[in-house]
Amino acid sequence: MLPDEVDARTRYELLTSLVVPRPIAWVSTYGAGGARNLAPFSYYAALSASPMLVGVSVGHRNGVPKDTLVNVRARRAFCINVVPEAMLEPMNATSADVPPGVDEFELAGLEVGASERVDAPYVAGAPAVLECTLEREVDLGEAPNTLIIGRVVGVLLDEGLPFLEGTHQVDPSALRPVGRLSGGGYALPGPVRVLPRPR
Ligand SMILES: Cc1cc2nc3c(=O)[nH]c(=O)nc-3n(C[C@H](O)[C@H](O)[C@H](O)COP(=O)(O)O)c2cc1C
Repeated sequence: MLPDEVDARTRYELLTSLVVPRPIAWVSTYGAGGARNLAPFSYYAALSASPMLVGVSVGHRNGVPKDTLVNVRARRAFCINVVPEAMLEPMNATSADVPPGVDEFELAGLEVGASERVDAPYVAGAPAVLECTLEREVDLGEAPNTLIIGRVVGVLLDEGLPFLEGTHQVDPSALRPVGRLSGGGYALPGPVRVLPRPR
């Protein structure tokens, strides 16, 4: 199969069923007039630890940037909420295409917190939150998609969240993160196998 010989839908379906499972950035922002916006994005990756950078690729709808991108550009800030298995359904509810003024926390029945470090709200019940400022945006071309690169300036962790012994690695069995497969499919956390790194 050659990407140039198939249509955009086919490329999307192949890519999103082969680059799996993908972590989900559940991105919260303020819109114009302070409306709270929340939406999931699985074109998401850790880019660098020092400085701490993450990337989220946001699409445009009928040529118009999605609300998340509009808000990030305006406030230069956003929070990424980690999605645990227990929040799968509210996360999905916030992917609805609703007008910019609709409070998507209310829509999904979620408690809201206000970040003290960046100009963005966060999901109060999320086990972990990355507070980000907009470092840079990169136009990804004809799709069109825009990659927003966020600098993590704060990390909020639920007090009960344990680290693996002797590390600052959050215990995945407590975090219970979900991964996106294609379409409406999600990979749920299963048993964790730990392998020593070969020398
Ligand atoms: C699990 C999941 C992952 C998604 N990933 C992306 C993504 O990476 N990029 C994107 O543009 N839309 C993605 N979407 C769709 C957006 O969440 C959806 O278009 C949403 O309405 C955008 O909200 P906004 O207009 O408030 O920014 C995803 C949806 C789901 C359910």
